Amino acid sequence: MWGIDMQKIKSMEMKGITKRFPGVIANKDIDLKVNSGEVFALLGENGAGKTTLMNILYGLYSPDEGNIYINDKKVIIDSPKKALELGIGMVHQHFMLVPSLTVSENIALGSDFESKFRLDLKKISKNIKKLSKDYSLEVEPEKKISELSVGEQQKVEIVKALYHGANFLVLDEPTAALTPQESSQLISWLRTVIKEDMGVIFISHKLNEVMSVSDRVQVLRNGKTYFSAKTKNTNIDELAKNMAGREIKLPKLEAEKTHGDILMELKHIWVKDRRGIDVLKDINLKLREGEILGIAGVSGNGQKDLAEVITGLKKAYKGEIIFGDQNIEKKSVQEIIDLGVGFIPEDRLHMGTIPRFTVKENLILKDYLKNPFSNNYILDQNYIKNYCKTTVEEYDVRCPNINTPTHALSGGNIQKIILSRELKREPDVLVAAYPIRGVDIAAVEYIHSKLLEARENGMAILLITEELEEIMNLSDRIAVIYEGEILRILDNTAASKSKLGTLMAGVVDENK
Ligand SMILES: Nc1ncnc2c1ncn2[C@@H]1O[C@H](COP(=O)(O)OP(=O)(O)O)[C@@H](O)[C@H]1O
Ligand SMILES: [Mg+2]
Repeated sequence: MWGIDMQKIKSMEMKGITKRFPGVIANKDIDLKVNSGEVFALLGENGAGKTTLMNILYGLYSPDEGNIYINDKKVIIDSPKKALELGIGMVHQHFMLVPSLTVSENIALGSDFESKFRLDLKKISKNIKKLSKDYSLEVEPEKKISELSVGEQQKVEIVKALYHGANFLVLDEPTAALTPQESSQLISWLRTVIKEDMGVIFISHKLNEVMSVSDRVQVLRNGKTYFSAKTKNTNIDELAKNMAGREIKLPKLEAEKTHGDILMELKHIWVKDRRGIDVLKDINLKLREGEILGIAGVSGNGQKDLAEVITGLKKAYKGEIIFGDQNIEKKSVQEIIDLGVGFIPEDRLHMGTIPRFTVKENLILKDYLKNPFSNNYILDQNYIKNYCKTTVEEYDVRCPNINTPTHALSGGNIQKIILSRELKREPDVLVAAYPIRGVDIAAVEYIHSKLLEARENGMAILLITEELEEIMNLSDRIAVIYEGEILRILDNTAASKSKLGTLMAGVVDENK
C-alpha cells in the first residue's frame, strides 16, 4: 500500500527457534511451518510460549537461536515494521489502539507517511472503507476507539494490519474477550474471507473453535512442541491431554441434592441504566445454601447489572435483596462484603484486582486491616507472607514470586488470585461472573472443582456465564435471562443445550 514492493507470502517457516528469558526458556527448538490458505492453530496452556514465539515472528523479540524463512528464503525480522514490510500482521491479545483517536487516525499511526507528509485523513478514510468492504469487515473510520466495543476494536486491529499490507495474519487469542456471537462471526470470517489467500496463525484456548476453524494444530508445552497434527485427524480430548500433559476431565455436579436454606432472596428488583432504560425487570431469585444457581444468557442482557446490584455497585429503584434477616439493597459495597458476599467480577484486571499492586497485596486486598492480617491496624508481615505463599501454592498461581505486580501475570493466573481471595474469605454467597473467560482448560478444570467444593461446603453461588457446557456441568438450577428479565428457571435435569439456546434467544414456547 505504501509503494513497497509487497511480496505474497506463500509459506512461512520457523526453524529451531529458542528464546530464553532470565530464569525461563520460553521457546525451545521450535519448528513450525504455515502455508498460504491455511489456518494454523497454535495451542498450549498459559505460559507455554505461544505469544513469545509470535512476538519473535513479528520482530518484537529476536530469537537466541533459529531462523525464519519466507517463501523458502531466510529473512531477518528485527522490528514490527520489518514484519509488515514482509507482509506479516499481528493482532495482540491486548489491543494497542489509542482510545482518544479515531479509527482512521489509529490505522494511519505508525505509517512512514506520518513524518513526511500531513496525514490525508480523507483519503485514508476512503481507503479504509474500501478495504473493509473488500474484506467484509465493517468499521467506521470517523468513530473514536473509545466508542467501540471490544469486538469492533478487534476489527480495527485487523483492518489496520491489512491496510499496512499484511497477507499473513497472527491472531493471539482473538476470541478471549469476545461474546460467543462475535467469536462465531470472527471464525466464519476467517473461514470464508481470509483463508482464500492468506496464511493465518490462530491462538485460542477454546478447543471447539480450534476444531471448527483450523486446518492444522501444534501444541506447545513448557516452550517445546509436544504435538502436531492435521485437525481432521485429532479431537478435543487429545488436544486437551497434550496441552496439560495429563487427562483432563471437567467435573460435574452431583445433581439431586436436597436444597438447603435460602441465604439470599431478590424480590421484585428493578434497575435502570444511566439513560433511564430498565435493564433489570422484576427479578425474583432465591439463592440457597449449597446450591449453584446458573444465570444463562447472551451477554449484555442484564447479567452485569444483576451482579452489580447484588454486590452493591449499582442500586435498584424498586425491590429488595434480603440477606440473612435484613434488606441489603441500600447498603454500601464494603458493608455487603463484610456481611459475607464474595464477587468474582467480569473485568478481572480492573475490577477484580489493582493491576500495579503485587500478588500479595491483591490476595489480602479486602481484609488486610482485619485479624489475622493486622493487629490494631499494624500489619503482621510474617503472617501475611506465609498466608500468601501457601495460597499461591494451593491455588497453583504461576508467578515468579508474591511480590510480582499483578498486571505481569497471564489472565488465567490473575483469575486464580481472585478466586482464591474470594473463596478463602468463605462468604455465604458468591457471585461468579464468567469465571473461566480466557483461561486454559487445565485452569477451567481447577476453577470448576473449586466452585463445586465451595458448594459442597454450603456456599450459595450465583454463576453467570455464556458457556452452556459450564452452566450445565455446575448448576443445580439454571435461570435464563433475556433483556433484563428472567424467562425461566429450570432444574439441571430438565435443561438441555438446545432448550437453553432457544430460551437465550428470547423464545419461550408455552407448550413445553
Ligand atoms: N518479557 C518477558 N520477560 C520475562 N519472561 C517472559 C517475558 N515474556 C514471557 N515470559 C515468560 O515466558 C514464558 C512463556 O510466556 P508466553 O509466551 O507469554 O506464553 P503463552 O502466550 O503461551 O501464555 C512464561 O514463563 C512467561 O512468564
Ligand atoms: Mg499468550
